[in-house]
Amino acid sequence: MGYFYKSNRLRILNVSWVLLLFTGVLFNARIGLTAEFATSKEFRQYCGQCHGADGAGRGDAARYLYPKPRDFINGQLRLATSSNMIATADDIKQVLLTGVPNTSMQSWKQLSDGLIDRLVIEIRQMQIQGARQRVTLALLEDGLLVDGDGKLNLAGQQVVEDYTTQQTVPTGRWVAPAGLTVNTGVLEDGRKIYLKQNCHKCHGTDGEGSFGVDLVDDQGFPTFARDLVHDPYKAGSQFQAVARVIQLGMPGTLMPSSRVLDDVELAKLTYYVQSLGKAPPRLLGNIQRYHRAIGFRR
Ligand code: HEC
Ligand code: HEC
Repeated sequence: MGYFYKSNRLRILNVSWVLLLFTGVLFNARIGLTAEFATSKEFRQYCGQCHGADGAGRGDAARYLYPKPRDFINGQLRLATSSNMIATADDIKQVLLTGVPNTSMQSWKQLSDGLIDRLVIEIRQMQIQGARQRVTLALLEDGLLVDGDGKLNLAGQQVVEDYTTQQTVPTGRWVAPAGLTVNTGVLEDGRKIYLKQNCHKCHGTDGEGSFGVDLVDDQGFPTFARDLVHDPYKAGSQFQAVARVIQLGMPGTLMPSSRVLDDVELAKLTYYVQSLGKAPPRLLGNIQRYHRAIGFRR
């Protein structure tokens, strides 16, 4: 937590100084700070044991799980289809309908459509409240942009609005490059790009994951780059989903973005990565995933 909080605060401060240069419309609303998000009965009933009654990811079962349940207040959602990598309501709904492969996050499609839609809205609200709270606390703690009675001044409130927008409002959908005819030449080029882009440093030259690197997620937990040969992909194995994760990265993880690749390079690399996968994908238990994350070989 400490690690996450510090790095996040640094990011907020950087952003806030940049945003200060653009003081647009000033909002008059006072920024209220509530300690906890008031979750619904249904959220606590169905999701609370893992995601926590407050949505911060530390439910009673969380200690036994790996990867850990998402912290909806301060964590970033991994599965986003928008070009700024902020999950849309549809992205969250998709997760509720299908679950996240190879994790304890199961499908909730047995719930009614209406309830699923309400839970989606609730998660979006937690993200918005979390963003507001982070930036407000950071400003207040450092005494930045506060007026005489210790509350944020108008410029401070503007920073809070801008930061919250930047952290929670998705832009348009990311569009995948056109496909190519796959042949050995394309796959050979893809392999060269894989090595040139240093994918093998984390995913291994054979794609099975590298054991030499220490990786952590946004909460400071150890993590492991996807085994591209055996693991299922969280975002799905279709061309456009794999291409998107490669180009944009995965929020909250060390899976980097590769925006330098042009469309043809991206397509070649995507086909190469897809060609590594062996069906059917291997599913592991929480303990096995944890062992791998802390560096045990199978
Ligand atoms: C048995 C434990 C468990 C329960 C119950 C559970 N989840 Fe999860 N959930 C997880 C785990 C673990 C992850 C993290 C998966 C990962 O890191 O890829 C997760 C991730 C998520 C994500 C994040 C996906 C992303 O893009 O990052 C959403 C949204 C989510 N859960 C919603 C819910 C909702 C809503 C409920 C209740 C209807 C619920 N979960 C119930 C364990 C659970
Ligand atoms: C710094 C280490 C690192 C590098 C470099 C890296 N990745 Fe990853 N990659 C990860 C991690 C960590 C994950 C797993 C994220 C998670 O789910 O927690 C991942 C996940 C993935 C996934 C799975 C996506 C999904 O939907 O589950 C693919 C595909 C992938 N990486 C491809 C690549 C390619 C191609 C490159 C080179 C351009 C690359 N990675 C470079 C660390 C890395």
